[in-house]
Amino acid sequence: MAKPVLVTGGAGFVGANLVRLLLGKGYDVTILDNFDRGRAAYLDGLDVRVVRADIRDGEALKTAFKGQEAIFHLAAYGSVVESIEDPDTNFQVNVVGTLNVLKAAVANDVGKLVFSSTGGALMGNTAPPVNEKSVPRPISPYGASKLACEGYLCAFAESYGLNTLMCRFANVYGPWSAHKQGVFNKYLVAIDKGEPLVVYGDPVRDFIYVEDLVRGLTLGLESDTKAGDAYHLSTNTGVRIVDLAAEMLSIRRKNDSQLIRHPARRGEVAENFAEGHKASADLGFTAQVTLRPGLEKTIEWFDAHADLWKPGA
Ligand SMILES: NC(=O)c1ccc[n+]([C@@H]2O[C@H](COP(=O)([O-])OP(=O)(O)OC[C@H]3O[C@@H](n4cnc5c(N)ncnc54)[C@H](O)[C@@H]3O)[C@@H](O)[C@H]2O)c1
Repeated sequence: MAKPVLVTGGAGFVGANLVRLLLGKGYDVTILDNFDRGRAAYLDGLDVRVVRADIRDGEALKTAFKGQEAIFHLAAYGSVVESIEDPDTNFQVNVVGTLNVLKAAVANDVGKLVFSSTGGALMGNTAPPVNEKSVPRPISPYGASKLACEGYLCAFAESYGLNTLMCRFANVYGPWSAHKQGVFNKYLVAIDKGEPLVVYGDPVRDFIYVEDLVRGLTLGLESDTKAGDAYHLSTNTGVRIVDLAAEMLSIRRKNDSQLIRHPARRGEVAENFAEGHKASADLGFTAQVTLRPGLEKTIEWFDAHADLWKPGA
């Protein structure tokens, strides 16, 4: 019998990729999403059950989690900038929503809950490389919300015996991200319109290709991990955003004259990348896709799905 798993936020970027991998591995997949940010079109043709619900609705979660053996909890508001503008909504969705998810998982005796935490926003300006021994020190309400969630995941492991696992994502890029507002999307639009690619400060990030990330998440589910434990899913490498922009320009056969520099923005981490040694030792996870081929595959996907991101395409 196929193992039933539920993915909150399954219509989002990471979710759309994770769901495809889970189906390929023979899982019986349910998606719970309020379609606030994700797209129903990402699920077209997939053999999944869809529950349209909000994670702020605890009762809806208790019903949806019935019979599920595992939950991947991805639903959240993931924008640092938005969280600074509106920390209350970010708290309600990310923290209260996660508390509801945990309570519903306990009520339904779910076997394992895998949580989408963050490496960069959690660690703030801690000198890289960060790892699981680094002390979290978020500098944005979004980072603080993920730290609060991690606290609840540890507490639920100890207080209720829930088998929780925190996966701290690096910066994810790849297919099924047409709706995202991150640096990749902004730069691709700018390149194609011949507009400037703006770099704020000189940030360094750990860019992980989404197929690597979701493989790490399934390894997290399938490995015998300790309840309440945390893993960085990373590439072990820092990439300067200016270099990312230059690679994208080069893939589109444009020169660097479109690149312009501005001062850094408040609340954004200057430099972050993580060591993935613990994930490699315990989960057998190593990121395999390097930046240039990952960007080429992503741009290929965007070109094939212009209708999802280019108005009027
Ligand atoms: N993408 C990244 O680079 C990255 C990095 C670190 C951590 N994360 C975390 O990974 C998770 C997934 O990120 P993503 O990039 O796929 O984001 P996304 O915005 O593409 O997907 C989130 C999904 O959650 C849904 N959602 C939002 N609020 C909801 C609510 N109240 N109830 C039900 N569904 C709701 C949205 O509709 C969307 O489909 C998030 O928790 C995010 O914080 C992402």
